[in-house]
Amino acid sequence: MKLLVVGSGGREHAIAKKLLESKDVENVFVAPGNDGMTLDSLELVNISISEHSKLIEFAKANDIAWTFIGPDDALAAGIVDDFNQAGLKAFGPTKAAAELEWSKDFAKEIMVKYGVPTAAYGTFSDFEEAKAYIEKQGAPIVVKADGLALGKGVVVAETVEQAVEAAHEMLLDNKFGDSGARVVIEEFLDGEEFSLFAFVNGDKFYIMPTAQDHKRAYDGDKGPNTGGMGAYAPVPHLPQSVVDQSVETIIKPVLKGMIAEGRPYLGVLYAGLILTADGPKVIEFNSRFGDPETQIILPRLTSDFAQNITDILDKKEPTITWLDEGVTLGVVVASEGYPLGYEKGLPLPEKTAGDIITYYAGAKFAENSRALLSNGGRVYMLVTTADTVSAAQEKIYDQLEKQDTTGFFYRTDIGSKAVK
Ligand code: AMP
Ligand code: GLY
Repeated sequence: MKLLVVGSGGREHAIAKKLLESKDVENVFVAPGNDGMTLDSLELVNISISEHSKLIEFAKANDIAWTFIGPDDALAAGIVDDFNQAGLKAFGPTKAAAELEWSKDFAKEIMVKYGVPTAAYGTFSDFEEAKAYIEKQGAPIVVKADGLALGKGVVVAETVEQAVEAAHEMLLDNKFGDSGARVVIEEFLDGEEFSLFAFVNGDKFYIMPTAQDHKRAYDGDKGPNTGGMGAYAPVPHLPQSVVDQSVETIIKPVLKGMIAEGRPYLGVLYAGLILTADGPKVIEFNSRFGDPETQIILPRLTSDFAQNITDILDKKEPTITWLDEGVTLGVVVASEGYPLGYEKGLPLPEKTAGDIITYYAGAKFAENSRALLSNGGRVYMLVTTADTVSAAQEKIYDQLEKQDTTGFFYRTDIGSKAVK
């Protein structure tokens, strides 16, 4: 079987690498991928994620059994609808089902309608109305661009002034273009954040191990929000009862709701949750795997990944199994300056061997050689599995100290919330 993965980051590296380990898989192509992936025998296809008809042509010409879609913007652009219309299978939600991610207002409406616990909110396209709401509610309060904003469209405001300024930037200064033409303003939820992922087809779903991302750029959750600087799974201090409660109060009703709305969900559903004093509540849904969570969840999958996805697509009961001991932890190495401006073209350390995996994101071969150079904000990620969070931290941070990371930075406290 030949498979295609759409996307180019560390997430897609982890998906493609795991698929290639499957028994019946001969080739895994990644479009457009990054050069680092070729070190794991993945094959790059030079087509961008927005060129749906070229991707479809490639899939047909190369006898691709099905395509796994990584990024949210491809899903929001209806890539799955286009593949299906061309008679091809793709793992990911249709544009209508992916609206759970690409419109925060839509996600909120679904949650309210189907009784899914989430922060109280208002949606505004008029600045004066938004300002009045913020002043009435008081701070802390959270201001979110309605549409996709590369994970940067959320401001957790500690004061009314900050919140009003954020609403001003989104609604009047066009900071996020059309994505910020409407804003969702919501109650600040206090508690520990975690992510729950599930493979889904309609009302059937298969929960993955819990994960915790680190979205701020610097140690101690300081600095600007990023795509994610490191993660670990499972979250050892989250009791199974919280997972069970999240399944009952969040996953089941939202999937039922999507069916009732005529938008049945297929693909990976990602619930970003906060464990409040009143139980888990949703801060966002994403319609895809997380990055960097995928890189620490998929190494824990012990069943045949390609067979699992084939079965889910065919509505057969998959046999999905996970490593049930230890912790998998990963640290992202990013270009100095990320998430703002940064340099490209700096040399990368050698790919790790043994039980530390290197997943590449912004990586590119130098001209005329196979030396890898940096080519993005998040550059690569080291991932390992160990008995405890602290043992995994030790392995990763020892390795990072041995590497020349000049021009890059990484957080030195990934997983520390689990080590008390
Ligand atoms: P999002 O892009 O929706 O995941 O939001 C980015 C980050 O903002 C989240 O990871 C949370 O840390 C924080 N956040 C979002 N919504 C809330 C909320 N209602 N209460 C507290 N923190 C929030
Ligand atoms: N790690 C956060 C995200 O993928 O949205």
